[in-house]
Amino acid sequence: ERVEWDAEAAEKGGFDTYMLKEIYEQPQALTNTLLGRLGEDGQVSLDIGLDPRSFERISIVACGTAYYAGLVGEYLIEQLARIPVDVDVASEYRYRSPIVNKSTLAVAVSQSGETIDTLEALREAAAGGAQTLGIINAKGSSMTRELGDTLYIHAGPEIGVASTKAYTAQVSAMLLLALWLGQARGTLSRERAAELVAEARRLPALVQEALAPERVERIRAIAQKYAQASDYLFLGRGVNAPTALEGALKLKEISYIHAEGYAAGEMKHGPIALIDADLPVVVVATHSDLLEKTISNLQEVRARAGRVIAILSDGDTENAQHADDVIYVPRTAEELSPIVNVVALQLLSYFTADHLGKDVDKPRNLAKSVTVE
Ligand code: G6P
Repeated sequence: ERVEWDAEAAEKGGFDTYMLKEIYEQPQALTNTLLGRLGEDGQVSLDIGLDPRSFERISIVACGTAYYAGLVGEYLIEQLARIPVDVDVASEYRYRSPIVNKSTLAVAVSQSGETIDTLEALREAAAGGAQTLGIINAKGSSMTRELGDTLYIHAGPEIGVASTKAYTAQVSAMLLLALWLGQARGTLSRERAAELVAEARRLPALVQEALAPERVERIRAIAQKYAQASDYLFLGRGVNAPTALEGALKLKEISYIHAEGYAAGEMKHGPIALIDADLPVVVVATHSDLLEKTISNLQEVRARAGRVIAILSDGDTENAQHADDVIYVPRTAEELSPIVNVVALQLLSYFTADHLGKDVDKPRNLAKSVTVE
């Protein structure tokens, strides 16, 4: 008897798709990114040669999902290390004669390390005298050969075109960088650093908890309920404004449903005109100093008959009353919450696309790595 051996099925390790497998690999990926670098004493150590006091500003360049990791990085670095940060889409940066000099640190974020626009943006920065650092997944990739320093995320190979584990690992690397800079530059108190480091050590377990079967099933049901929508809006605030952008990107990439992500406070300047009973609005409203403001945005959507899917922290039953559907996620420090929250949005996109019968791993017109302009 002949046994059929399907190498691809074997590689997917029992999952239907690479994307789903990679979503579930996130606790391991985060362990690989974080644990060797977070000391029990609360000290962050990065195996890079960069002098953390040798620059006055940071320019982050990236494309696609990596760009959104850069936006989270901007927030974290400015909050924790008090260094001014700009984030640019690499294809814009490379052609806009950016202002760069020796006191600039250019940070390239890239899963593949091969994206041509990011590589060229990096060269533009280096030509202007900037020091360079990469947050990279692929070992020995083109960018790593040109970068001054590389902070590998160690997420392992990512095959699904829509990035999942590389994103959460990139955001974790941004957190490490912000903590490391804050410690070296004295902007972060010992207590605050110790708290955040202790919480960061829990991230793999928190993401594991976000993937608990009953949570995943609930997200699947919500995805199916709204899968016929023609548009979706995603809102978030502060460090989770990029989470909303990433949620919208993920949904449009794999389900082909038109989706927009917006900073919640900006809704009134445009997207509010789109709200009606056919528009699902995902609001990232997890524990935050500004949660009340986000909840009032959510009520504005409700008041215009929009359908609200709220992402709430575990235990927040009070705000559940303002939503049509609630996805609860594990509670963590606000600074770390983008990593936990985005997992719910990855699953929402995944189950929407899957329900619609789309090829999740190979969405039309997209490439895993874009090496031509
Ligand atoms: C492509 C991929 C995206 C990715 C982007 C940047 O568009 O489809 O998933 O985020 O490139 O890729 P990089 O390898 O530079 O992170």
